[in-house]
Amino acid sequence: MSNYLIVKKKIKNFNKIISVSGDKSISIRWVLFSSLASGVSVAKNLLISEDVIAALNSIKNLGIKIILKKNYCKIYGKGIDGYRYRNNLKLNAQNSGTLGRLILGLLINSPKKIQLVGDKSLSKRDFSRVTKPLSKFGAKFELKKKAYLPLTIEGSKNPKSISYFEKRGSAQCKSSVIFGGMRSDGKTIIKAKKSRNHTELLCKYLKLPIKIKNKKKFDYIEIKKVKKIKPLNYKIPSDISSAAFFIVLTVLCKNSKIKIKNVNINSSRIGLITILKKMGVKINFKNKKIYKGEKIADILVKSPSKLKKINCPSYLNSGSIDEFLIIFLVAAKADGISYFKDLSELNKKESPRLKWASKILNQIGIKTITTDSSIKIFGNPNLVVDKKIEIKNFLKDHRVFMTSVIAALSFGGEWKIHDKNSVNSSFPNFLKILSNLKK
Ligand code: S3P
Repeated sequence: MSNYLIVKKKIKNFNKIISVSGDKSISIRWVLFSSLASGVSVAKNLLISEDVIAALNSIKNLGIKIILKKNYCKIYGKGIDGYRYRNNLKLNAQNSGTLGRLILGLLINSPKKIQLVGDKSLSKRDFSRVTKPLSKFGAKFELKKKAYLPLTIEGSKNPKSISYFEKRGSAQCKSSVIFGGMRSDGKTIIKAKKSRNHTELLCKYLKLPIKIKNKKKFDYIEIKKVKKIKPLNYKIPSDISSAAFFIVLTVLCKNSKIKIKNVNINSSRIGLITILKKMGVKINFKNKKIYKGEKIADILVKSPSKLKKINCPSYLNSGSIDEFLIIFLVAAKADGISYFKDLSELNKKESPRLKWASKILNQIGIKTITTDSSIKIFGNPNLVVDKKIEIKNFLKDHRVFMTSVIAALSFGGEWKIHDKNSVNSSFPNFLKILSNLKK
């Protein structure tokens, strides 16, 4: 079957209620925590995507039994020291930075050498950002060119607690060190620039020995050795990073409305909402509730008559780090020049996303000025695309694919977008939900 998508028509206005799939960050964390629990954990609405299946396969390779059905997933944890370390063990994180980086924290006491590999995109991403702090616990690493996969880890018999300053605002680095701290004697102390806090919320919910102080710019975390984790039954809320594509489609289509049900609106994840509100979009949260420490709500969006430019404050970056590609499409339609800065991390994702953003925007006739860490977007409220556009060779970055589809449906033109299968890493039913919107 062809692995590209042709889009030739703009979408007509719509008024729909939809649900998107389970949150990827929470799904992967549920798998990892449950793999250490004493007993059986059950998840509903787990995201069944390639990244999460890679997480399930990894813990299976570590000797943990799993049952994966359409409506639920069961993990048979054997306790905090329940992993089986075979000789020549090789784990494959495929496309997932989150899995690759977090699992290393759990392996810092592995008695045997383990190899970690990933796909082409993951093999271009820096792993020294986690292996450097994790080696301070006593684990030993060998990395390709000192920073890349494939790598090997050999754990320490007695990992010792560390102090760590996480400066990038990376939840992957912070979480990896929290996992290392859970396996180490003494008290691990972390000062971390703000980033998504699902790992901390799960530790708190599971009553693990963690202390957290949230200050304006940084979070201060202390974690001690964990002796036991109780099973974790969890109904995974929907992913705001997947909802983001439909939120923006609504924003860019005149006279449209959408309600997206049961989405995780953790305040460390809703930078997109704040940015869109600043640009003049009306967004409401309904049916708000708290579930195991996570905030959840239905998100209601109405397309605005006008979009304002934005000079985006950098404190919103970490809460919208996965949403910038799609946010830039909104800036393309806004009245005036929008500016986004301090975004060097964007070029370190599944593909260099700042570069891809300007490529897509330039192709649709929008002027950009891009540096390694910033982008100026010269918006055009009357933007209409009327030409052939081909998007390819983007390292199969799922978010580049989905952003291109939203651009095609919103602005018009004749698009050929390659690597359709890339959606399988985070959002396998993306195209199906889209086609229901068209009905
Ligand atoms: C994630 C953290 C973010 C994000 C990624 C998921 C997580 O990465 O981009 O998609 O689940 O911890 P960084 O921690 O590298 O910013």
